[in-house]
Amino acid sequence: MPLVTSTEMFKKAYAGGYAIGAFNVNNMEIIQGIVDAAKLERAPLILQASSGARKYANPIYLRKLVEAAVEDSGLPICLHLDHGDTFELCKDSIDGGFTSVMIDASHHSFEENIKITKKVVEYAHDRGVVVEAELGRLAGVEDAVNVSEKDSSYTDPGQVQEFVEKTGVDSLAIAIGTSHGAFKFKGEAKLRFDILEDVGKRLPGFPIVLHGASSVPEKYVKIVNENGGMMDGAKGVPEEMLRQAASMAVCKINIDSDLRLAFTASIRKHMNDNPSHFDPRQYLTPARAAITDVVRHKLVSVLGCNNKV
Ligand code: G3H
Ligand code: 13P
Ligand code: ZN
Repeated sequence: MPLVTSTEMFKKAYAGGYAIGAFNVNNMEIIQGIVDAAKLERAPLILQASSGARKYANPIYLRKLVEAAVEDSGLPICLHLDHGDTFELCKDSIDGGFTSVMIDASHHSFEENIKITKKVVEYAHDRGVVVEAELGRLAGVEDAVNVSEKDSSYTDPGQVQEFVEKTGVDSLAIAIGTSHGAFKFKGEAKLRFDILEDVGKRLPGFPIVLHGASSVPEKYVKIVNENGGMMDGAKGVPEEMLRQAASMAVCKINIDSDLRLAFTASIRKHMNDNPSHFDPRQYLTPARAAITDVVRHKLVSVLGCNNKV
């Protein structure tokens, strides 16, 4: 089976009241850890690479590794560009075999966002590739871009129909209070479910995407914070809120920070316990297994997409 788009996955997820996990990948161990979890739980998958991941690993290596994952698992897997910020980056990803791209022009004006998104959609659809866009702006850090809280903005539900009609986009990421990274909320976690509900009514049957959806589990933060780490105040989205979003119009939930935390916590613990180890397989084997554990938990208890293939 070749790489697939997210079209069928989203149709089933919308109808079934669950969401597909979109996990960020940067190297072989992370890909294997996620795919092992999806194999065990019979879950469809979106593996996504940011422009930083593409620079780090080289997109050809990422595509070949993800193709190997399809061959090894037999699962439906979509290879997605996360936060493409230009037409050229989206085009390069489409030409290089990605089956889905995100054009994130949310930092431009509404009109400019429509113009850039439409151009990507035309290029992508001609080649059988699907497109995600974003309306509204999440706070937090992505790659080199750091969006402060004051520059973030909730999605205006009044704009979504016009945006989707004019661009022809396949899915839409909206801002309802989640943010990127491990420091999402200073006080109580709060998501604007009223906005999600309103968007859902205006776009019946249309797949909505939630970025910045890591839960930042205390058990990983504690280990990463040992020996003077700097993660005091790290706080993520409560999992009950994600489950609620998945039962509504949200069909794709993006998770990266929780995988980074699990991977790094495992390596830190291993090296603390075994200071003489220097064979990367000694610490990457448990780190890969830690990714599998966290992804299994997400698939079953948060997204509800287990046993769907
Ligand atoms: O939303 C961004 C993802 O967590 C990817 O992060 O741009 O540092 O690869 P990155
Ligand atoms: P987190 O930082 O919450 O994991 O969000 C990841 C994300 O939105 C990737 O696009
Ligand atoms: Zn994101």
